[in-house]
Amino acid sequence: MKDYKRTLVTAALPYANGPVHIGHLAGVYVPADIYVRYLRLRGRDVLFVCGSDEHGVPITIKARQQGCTPQDIVDRYHNIIDGSFKALGINFDIYGRTSSKVHEQNASEFFKKLYDSGKFITKESEQYYDPEAKTFLADRYIVGTCPKCGSEGAYGDQCEKCGCTLSPEELINPKSKLSGAEPIKKKTTHWYLPLQDYEQWLREWILEGHKEWRPNVYGQVKSWLDGGLQPRAVTRDLDWGVPVPVEGAEGKVLYVWFDAPIGYISNTIELLPDSWEQWWKSEDTKLVHFIGKDNIVFHCIVFPAMLKAYGDGYILPENVPSNEFLNLEGDKISTSRNWAVWAHEYVQDFPGEEDALRYVLTANAPETKDNDFSWKDFQTRNNSELVAIFGNFVNRAFVLTHKYFGGQVPACGELLDADREALAEIPALRASLEKNIEGYHFREALKDAMSIARVGNKYISDAEPWKVAKTDMGRTATILNVCLQICADLAIAFEPFTPFACGRLKDMLGLDLKWEDLGREDIVPVGHQLGEAKLLFAKIEDEAIQKQLDRLEAIRAEREAAAKAEAAKQVTPQKEEVTFDDFQKMDIRTATVLAAERVPKTDKLLKLSIDTGIDKRTIVSGIAEYYSPEEMVGKQICILANLAPRVIRGIESKGMILMARQNDGKMRFITPQETLTNGAEIG
Ligand code: MF3
Ligand code: ZN
Repeated sequence: MKDYKRTLVTAALPYANGPVHIGHLAGVYVPADIYVRYLRLRGRDVLFVCGSDEHGVPITIKARQQGCTPQDIVDRYHNIIDGSFKALGINFDIYGRTSSKVHEQNASEFFKKLYDSGKFITKESEQYYDPEAKTFLADRYIVGTCPKCGSEGAYGDQCEKCGCTLSPEELINPKSKLSGAEPIKKKTTHWYLPLQDYEQWLREWILEGHKEWRPNVYGQVKSWLDGGLQPRAVTRDLDWGVPVPVEGAEGKVLYVWFDAPIGYISNTIELLPDSWEQWWKSEDTKLVHFIGKDNIVFHCIVFPAMLKAYGDGYILPENVPSNEFLNLEGDKISTSRNWAVWAHEYVQDFPGEEDALRYVLTANAPETKDNDFSWKDFQTRNNSELVAIFGNFVNRAFVLTHKYFGGQVPACGELLDADREALAEIPALRASLEKNIEGYHFREALKDAMSIARVGNKYISDAEPWKVAKTDMGRTATILNVCLQICADLAIAFEPFTPFACGRLKDMLGLDLKWEDLGREDIVPVGHQLGEAKLLFAKIEDEAIQKQLDRLEAIRAEREAAAKAEAAKQVTPQKEEVTFDDFQKMDIRTATVLAAERVPKTDKLLKLSIDTGIDKRTIVSGIAEYYSPEEMVGKQICILANLAPRVIRGIESKGMILMARQNDGKMRFITPQETLTNGAEIG
């Protein structure tokens, strides 16, 4: 393994067209922050770069929907996202923006150099164009009927109803979202990066050289390469983005996936205008990109090819740890369906519980497969792990030290086996933790840290210093000394995962701790005065969880209601043809309900006494799901009078009430528009 001087860590730039949610946090930002905190603790030189991705078509669509400018949209979300990262302790050295001047210049220069050195090819193609709005249309700006499922409102790149991928050519009745006009095809020229030229080089670099990358990353790269690479357009016809800096490119901007990764570099330049190159162009720098699985191709194929084409000493990533997706309560997280836990809402709803979220998202991180977040699991992990093990252990150690020794670290006497065994576990756990973090196995690393808390909690429970104190103060001193060493171990080991609690714990200990202290048996010196015990983790109550579940339930109910309303619009196909004579056989009449009661022991049936004009009779009807007996009395209805009698639940039913059934299952009885005489013939 190469010995690097410094590590540059990037976290995928979130799109500034919405807030970030727990899926983003678990997939990218929490693991990246853990990694960076760990390296800093180890005294390594680290730079942690992120920022908002502020270009792209979805931002222009959102602006149009909300009647504001794209700049308004990105300003709003940039601030929300930035605020929630800060609140959760995700400490970037810079959180920049791709709408900044520095980035515009840098991305522009990057393109220009590739352009000047002939790294692009140009291609003319026919693209959809809105003849009324006089502009080319991105796929997202074209809507029509889905050729696969027939639903309206499918986009030119995807149908959200059936989830299929589309090209705009496939849409039936395509319309421009801007003007409603039918789009026409128009010629346009764009610049392309010929990725196929880099294929062999990519194969060697990744498939041969980085077999240690996570299987999901390696596998995706391999299947892209095996499928054969194609030239990729790096420009678009759009009015939001970095203008293409060459003549004859009016109305064109850099494609968002071309400019965004350059944003990592721009943000570094913004922060370190004089020394940024040592982070990007030195073989002594280890570059690590943290991303979600939908970003793999861009970070492993496209961006490296861009850097390779540019040359000038740009380094390539040493690893690209990428996670799978996190689901929420068994359902895919979806921004458009509002099925998410939003970071900025979490920090409002659970002030002081930032660590709990970091902890649960790490314990449950979708490192190797998609995983599920549930509020119950969140509560359980917080209450029975953070509170009951880590928090409880530290609290007991502190409270007892204050009680018996006035808060001064007591001397350690002769160690017994139990003491030695507990202390001996820690260096092994430290080694495992280090190996796991350095290998990007954050779940396992967190387990190692938690194991230290378990060791402490078990040790104090078994040693029972509160009992020993009644007879043997010397032994009590030793036990508490051991406990306090383990408290210090926890303050170090958990810092990457739960930095807020560790900050409090360090205050309580009143010590400046270093990673190298972890596992030492005399971190906390005898006689040292401890601070007051503070609460490290608070129990999360049922009410707080219920509130979240209710919110999600309301969203689910709304969605189901919308789906039902949609279903109600569908009609069943027409039945087989009948003759007029067939119809004439039906004796359909008006009638009035005289009395109604439920048929005992059934949910669905009402027994109705009705006046048919011909006679008074009884009908048993499966109407009780839709109407109460009280609602039916006095109502005029329509009946099929000459239906052969049937005995239902011991009651003879003569005839049938006519009802209309919607496709969502809703049923209503048919009633004349004004009250008629009973027995009026219908036909
Ligand atoms: N905005 C993209 C996303 O959220 C990520 C961009 S990462 C960068 O999927 F490398 F392009 F910056
Ligand atoms: Zn469809």
